[in-house]
Amino acid sequence: MKIAMGNDHTAVEMKNEIKAYVEAKGYEVIDFGTNALESCDYPVYGENVGRAVADGKADYGIAICGTGIGIGIAAGKVKGVRVCTCSEPYSARLSRMHNATNVLTFGARVIGVEMAKMIVDEWLNNQYEGGRHQRRVDQLMEIENR
Ligand code: RB5
Repeated sequence: MKIAMGNDHTAVEMKNEIKAYVEAKGYEVIDFGTNALESCDYPVYGENVGRAVADGKADYGIAICGTGIGIGIAAGKVKGVRVCTCSEPYSARLSRMHNATNVLTFGARVIGVEMAKMIVDEWLNNQYEGGRHQRRVDQLMEIENR
């Protein structure tokens, strides 16, 4: 399983910690950077993560900026992407089970690395339930075609 990862300058350290964490669990990471501490623009990295997932080059995406919001907005603009921006594991879990989210974002300035790991675990370890949720997920994706 492959995870596309991307981040801005606020989240280099957290990206590296989460990258090592998921690699230790057997995931292959495609790292879109940034790996520099100079100020950069989160939309670039969010789009790269979103495109990797939408194009099937990665199974999942994880993107991190200061709040997780900007990079999540960017990833979510890519057709086929469903983003979960969250600060706690419950929403991460339900976003997989009910919303079939394929990109997770969070904020390096909002949560600590141990909370981030817990969120990542809940998100990666739960599967989409389908069933009654499929009609709603279909409706979400139809919005992209209007
Ligand atoms: C960078 O200062 C900050 O705006 C960015 O990391 C992110 O929080 C945007 O949503």
